[in-house]
Amino acid sequence: MNPLERHEIPGSVTAVSAKGGLPALRIETPDCSALVYQHGAHVALWGPREGPPVLFMSDASDFSPDKPIRGGVPLIYPWFGPREGAPGHGTARITAWDLTESLLLPGGDVRLRFTLPHHGNDASVVFLVTLGASLRMEFIVSNLGSSALTFENCFHTYLHVADIHQAEVRGLRGVSYTDQLLGERFTEEHDAIRFTAETDRVYQNTTDATEIADPVLRRLIRIRKSGSLSTVVWNPWIDKAARMPDFGDDEYLRMLCVESGNLREHAVTLLPGQTSALEVEIDLAPFPL
Ligand code: BG6
Repeated sequence: MNPLERHEIPGSVTAVSAKGGLPALRIETPDCSALVYQHGAHVALWGPREGPPVLFMSDASDFSPDKPIRGGVPLIYPWFGPREGAPGHGTARITAWDLTESLLLPGGDVRLRFTLPHHGNDASVVFLVTLGASLRMEFIVSNLGSSALTFENCFHTYLHVADIHQAEVRGLRGVSYTDQLLGERFTEEHDAIRFTAETDRVYQNTTDATEIADPVLRRLIRIRKSGSLSTVVWNPWIDKAARMPDFGDDEYLRMLCVESGNLREHAVTLLPGQTSALEVEIDLAPFPL
């Protein structure tokens, strides 16, 4: 039996066996279609009911209990990046989360609440996602223990663009970043970041909204956030794409990641009893004339 069935809402939320036989919820609201896996509490699809997808999903992705999904919104916690002898980007994205609530909101949006299991008595980790004309995500961590809790978190959002050569990321001008490929720090000089090579940057002290301009699809993908001081901009480009087994060789042409979280010098430390919330809202706007 599908463990998500008890959270079905007729006409809005349906439990399905999705790719790899993984349990997931298919969501239909007046404003969006979405698919959310229990594995990783992973929003794999979200966007308007008609038209091109907003989130990118790799055709080569694994869908397996011990592997992350390559696309959508992987939840990165409790560490970002590789770690010796441990899963890259933390364990949250390869854990089956507990779905504790599905709610139909006035107006037709759907809200899901997931909790991360296996956390003993030291922390409570909750992922709240509201699906409608916008995608609203909250990652809430409470320190229930008796000593300080330090972690990194990130919504590793994969966004679909029609042509990486024409797409731009806006909203980071003047922000200091570490180029992870060079290991050096720079200040962003451009109003609009364009992609011509592998790009892997951690921007710090970011609080403003960003947007991805897609002149081919005539749309802006807008990202607003709070409780986040780090923004990662990533595209693997040709060679890295070829090295990634779960990513098609040409897929770098149709995606980019703009990730919102708290990492490196902005890792979060919670004293006993404290709670933090990382919140991101993504929506679409028409491309200005
Ligand atoms: C990005 C990192 O956030 O994630 C990159 O900045 C990394 O360095 C990318 O390559 C993908 O990571 P993974 O573990 O999903 O292959």
